[in-house]
Amino acid sequence: MGTFVVNSNNFTSNSHYISLKSKDAIADYFMHKYKKRPNVDLKYPDVKIHIHIHKEWLTISLDSSGESLHKRGYRSATNIAPINEVLAAGLLLLSGYKGEENFIDPMCGSGTILIEAAMIANQIPANINRKHFAFENWNDYDEDLYFIIQDSLLKKIRSSHFKIMGFDKAPSAVRKAQQNIINANLDEFIGVHHVNFFNSKKEVFGKTTILFNPPYGERLNIDVEEFYRKIGDTLKNNYPNSTAWLITSDIQALKFVGLRTSKRIPLKNADLDCRFVKYELYEGSKKEKKNSSFNDEEE
Ligand SMILES: C[S@@+](CC[C@H](N)C(=O)[O-])C[C@H]1O[C@@H](n2cnc3c(N)ncnc32)[C@H](O)[C@@H]1O
Repeated sequence: MGTFVVNSNNFTSNSHYISLKSKDAIADYFMHKYKKRPNVDLKYPDVKIHIHIHKEWLTISLDSSGESLHKRGYRSATNIAPINEVLAAGLLLLSGYKGEENFIDPMCGSGTILIEAAMIANQIPANINRKHFAFENWNDYDEDLYFIIQDSLLKKIRSSHFKIMGFDKAPSAVRKAQQNIINANLDEFIGVHHVNFFNSKKEVFGKTTILFNPPYGERLNIDVEEFYRKIGDTLKNNYPNSTAWLITSDIQALKFVGLRTSKRIPLKNADLDCRFVKYELYEGSKKEKKNSSFNDEEE
């Protein structure tokens, strides 16, 4: 008989008790039906069961992934505020980025957004290097089907010829990003430079997506008003013909950017309420016309 584990997260103090009662109920069921108790294995169980309680709703799920999907395996080096890998991938997909234009993360930290962007651009399946999924332990797991699906995804991998670039003003962040990019085997596709974004200008030709998570006021020591104003000025003056996206939990700070958002998407980053906002940056007369009245709407 296989082993199992029950985890629960219900954001209250009794989640351990809930796991314990559920585990007993499952063990009793098997005892009653098969006269055998399945063993609990906290580290390497055959089956993982997850219980989630939200208000009056209780959801019991079989965990098909096992180890959390954000653990892609490339991030050995992190800085003080790395973004979660799956959040980075989700933001890129939400922005509509498909890898068919240049890409810049102007405050790239440990390089997570750059790596996820390069994976999208090259159509590399997320978690391709993962050794194991929990569903491989299930009775109805079809290994042949798994390899057919894996093969068909691997055949879609392509080599993107668009530029993917990261900047950071901290040399330590640049080093960390470079190390993580090497770990992900993507150094052929991504360049990381020691650059202060506020002194930079667009040096790539053609349409460009800029996407980043600037430092959050409460996490990093910055003058929020001046910092966000410089973000707006740099984007407006130095990055024409680009689409810029940024995510921040400092919702009030967005008004200092001084550009009109063309989208504002409410999101959670862990327990922080955030906005993921979009700015269209035009060239020439369109830019002047638009920017003359730019001012972000108040929330
Ligand atoms: C919240 S972190 C980004 C985290 C990153 N997405 C990751 O996954 O590691 C913000 C980064 O912005 C960098 N930064 C702050 N001001 C900057 C500037 N003016 N130019 C370039 N980078 C800057 C910081 O050094 C820090 O690494």
